[in-house]
Amino acid sequence: MRDSRETLTKKAFVTGFPVKHSRSPMIHGYWLRQFGIDGIYQAHAVEPEHFTLFMQQLKSGESGYVGGNVTIPHKEAAYRLSDKPDEIAEELGAANTLWLEEGKVCATNTDGRGFLANLDQCHPGWEGHENSARRAVILGAGGAARAIIQAVRDRGFREVHVVNRTLSRAEEMRDRFGPRIHAHPMGALPEVLDGATLFVNTTSLGMDGEAAPAIDFTRMAAEGVVTDIVYVPLITSLLRQALEQGRPVVDGLGMLLHQAVPGFEKWFGRRPEVDDTLRALIIADMEARS
Ligand code: ATR
Repeated sequence: MRDSRETLTKKAFVTGFPVKHSRSPMIHGYWLRQFGIDGIYQAHAVEPEHFTLFMQQLKSGESGYVGGNVTIPHKEAAYRLSDKPDEIAEELGAANTLWLEEGKVCATNTDGRGFLANLDQCHPGWEGHENSARRAVILGAGGAARAIIQAVRDRGFREVHVVNRTLSRAEEMRDRFGPRIHAHPMGALPEVLDGATLFVNTTSLGMDGEAAPAIDFTRMAAEGVVTDIVYVPLITSLLRQALEQGRPVVDGLGMLLHQAVPGFEKWFGRRPEVDDTLRALIIADMEARS
């Protein structure tokens, strides 16, 4: 006889390759316990050559999942193989959150929403007034930059300046995300920072405590905020520089936590909060692993 738990327990996944490093099981596990929900969220490593089969088994219900998260290297394939990507995933060409609806695999990308929600929580009013300059500078034009460029544009920033070591990749961002996006080579950074109200690092510069180039953040507008999507360490060398120059900063950990919210709500039916206890749990894990 089947265990009745098998049919009642909602099961969600995070898939990637590798996926061991993912902190998503810790985040969703915290919320499942907090709400007392009978659910499971587990890491499920899938090699690239088996990802199509994984998606088929998700759709047919064979795997028993209600949905899940997708990380590197499957985000583009998840979008491509989904039945119903939303507008966000469509424009990005990548998905990080999947769920089943009437036998269809639906897909979205929550990275941009996570990015905005982190700033909203940690630095309310960060986007400035509707009539203010609202100029953003995004450093980097890789996979991680896309969702941020899209989110910042959609929050009403009039100018989004993408600065990248390889200019052609910044130009690709302009072609994808439209006329409010401007592409620049690295050397243009000081100049484009003039009067900027937001600076975001989306590159690996400063990750794991490595040095990053010196940046003069004092060129930004007086209320300009500096943030980094790198969260190991929490205060990256770019954020440290910004702090030393008296700028308000927001670290990147909250983006990881907030991007998880919409998925949890889809799969388990409750909207979770990003609270201090969750943040402390992940910080303790970061310290234990370092
Ligand atoms: P991700 O998906 O994490 O964004 P990616 O697609 O490889 O990874 O993009 C990495 C980004 O960091 C790119 O913008 C990359 O610049 P290039 O497009 O010129 O490669 C940037 N990057 C990585 N190392 C860098 C370095 N040492 N100096 C400047 N930019 C760097």
